[in-house]
Amino acid sequence: MDHRNHVQAVQECLRFCRDSFTCIPRTVIQLGTGLGDFVERIKVEHLVPYRDIPHFPQSTVESHQGNLIIGCLEGQTVAVLQGRFHFYEGYSTKEVAFPIRVLSLLGARTLILTNAAGGLNPLFFPGSIMVIRDHLNFLGENPLRGPNVDAWGPRFPDLSQAYHPRLIKTALNCASHCGLKNVVTGTYACIPGPSLETPAETRWLRDCGADAVGMSSIPEVIVARHAGMEVLGLSAISNINNPDDFQPITLEDIIETAGRIGPQIADLITAVITDKDISTE
Ligand code: HPA
Repeated sequence: MDHRNHVQAVQECLRFCRDSFTCIPRTVIQLGTGLGDFVERIKVEHLVPYRDIPHFPQSTVESHQGNLIIGCLEGQTVAVLQGRFHFYEGYSTKEVAFPIRVLSLLGARTLILTNAAGGLNPLFFPGSIMVIRDHLNFLGENPLRGPNVDAWGPRFPDLSQAYHPRLIKTALNCASHCGLKNVVTGTYACIPGPSLETPAETRWLRDCGADAVGMSSIPEVIVARHAGMEVLGLSAISNINNPDDFQPITLEDIIETAGRIGPQIADLITAVITDKDISTE
């Protein structure tokens, strides 16, 4: 999609959202693998399949449902993206981040995202929850490439604190209040996929400083920061990749482990949303 069509698509989608929704979400929660049940915690005001939203991409991955839900969680109006789009599905990073662009223009100020990731840090284990401190973008593409829309954000957005320090602190405090002993912090690396990493690539990613690797989220984070949103990222560590003893990685294992820690991540998100530091904004 060229620049002019992209801007027009965003504006048309924004108009649809303004006309359809009776409340403005302040927080966007983007659900990754294993978090499908999270919506049971939401008092749903609107549930719109992605296919009914003008210009929304369509999820082609079976483990991702495709609904935008607007509703109430612990007294807060939230938008829940049930399912995301990936670069490996053939979408550009601009398309991947399209929902975040639209929701930021609608008035959302915070993005909480979750994903499943392979653990690279030898201290992690399958079932760890990683609060993302920083990222490495190995997609070879940036959603802000091309003409900048100055009304949407600056040409050169600062990413020195891509993941908001206050939200990281809140998440760690909430984890300890929730009694979660499996919460760690680290750097998330995004690869294009869909093939998984070789042992040599795994060694290299570790040497680059990555603690976990996945195939998502970074385009959305870049667009959210461009739009001035604050970001919290949570990775469900579904497998551990050890270059010296590399085990095959299967989608079934990823889904099983991510599903097992999904309820803990859901508790953590609910606690973060309830925390006065974010709810008073
Ligand atoms: N690599 C890339 N993406 C992933 C992995 C992995 O090991 N596990 C879950 N998503």
